[in-house]
Amino acid sequence: KKKEAKYVIGFSQCVGSDLWRRTMLEEMKMELSLHPGATLVYRDANNSNRKQISQVGELLKMNIDLLIISPNEARPLTPIVEEAYNSGIPVVIIDRKTSSSAYTAYVGADNYQIGKMAGQYVSGLLKGKGNIMEIMGLPGSSPTIERQRGFAEGLQKSANIRISNQIYGDWLKSHAIDELLKMNETLRTTDLIFAHNDQMASAAREALDKLGIKRKVAIIGIDALPGQGGGLQMIDGKVIDASMLYPTGGKEAISTAFRILGKESILKENILQSVVIDSSNVQLMKLQWNKFSSQQRDIERQQSLLAEQRSLFDNQQLTLNVTVVT
Ligand code: FRU
Repeated sequence: KKKEAKYVIGFSQCVGSDLWRRTMLEEMKMELSLHPGATLVYRDANNSNRKQISQVGELLKMNIDLLIISPNEARPLTPIVEEAYNSGIPVVIIDRKTSSSAYTAYVGADNYQIGKMAGQYVSGLLKGKGNIMEIMGLPGSSPTIERQRGFAEGLQKSANIRISNQIYGDWLKSHAIDELLKMNETLRTTDLIFAHNDQMASAAREALDKLGIKRKVAIIGIDALPGQGGGLQMIDGKVIDASMLYPTGGKEAISTAFRILGKESILKENILQSVVIDSSNVQLMKLQWNKFSSQQRDIERQQSLLAEQRSLFDNQQLTLNVTVVT
């Protein structure tokens, strides 16, 4: 195999601190380790459109070979992403979109389908009747808009189910709690809360507890992450009732980037699959995850062993050279 060029990939992340995006970055690093010459220049915009726009500007000045971006909100980030794309830099959009089709590839799940799947699931859970409160993400983030549309569509056939209230939690647990605590009266007639992510779903549980609401309120989220504080654990612990798996696509974003850089053919839309996780399959998911992460640890052990042997070998070469010289 011929040696790969030393590519520099810029990655503009809308926010880096939550579990979902930390998991994404881990997956990216894992896949990047297969391309030893490459560099990932990472920027975290910490939920700010303005900061993200200026960080993308910075990345473009660094002569990156490719841009990966998850745009905080669609409209504000559109011009700078179009600028990058039109200047000839390939752009891989991940999870959240811009309002334009000026990009090389999209990697992520179909948020409309996920919303619809949630709606259909909820309609079964409520047996066709009830009041729903919907906690949405950031107003201008594409998954908020798509999940909302899909959810309403998924409930279409259930004439006696109403989305009686909608609030914005801006994807954040703290915002969602503040908003929910203002809804004391409404929550007392709510049968189900659908949150656009598991962080806000966990806020719903906390708010119900704080307000002392004893009524049975089902809580549905999105993400279904494994590990400490993730959705799988919350389903298992009955903190929430179900979650729609939302794969981070970290691995796929990097592999797509290298296919583009290697001038291989790619699809423009790379849609990752989702599935409903609830008490009926959460054990299976956890089992699968444990197996996967133990294999991951094996790979890491093998890699460090290899590195050890390589340095041992290099040392021996050095001794050999020294011997020859003297
Ligand atoms: C993480 C997150 C996820 C959500 C996604 C939507 O920052 O809020 O919880 O599924 O972003 O873009």
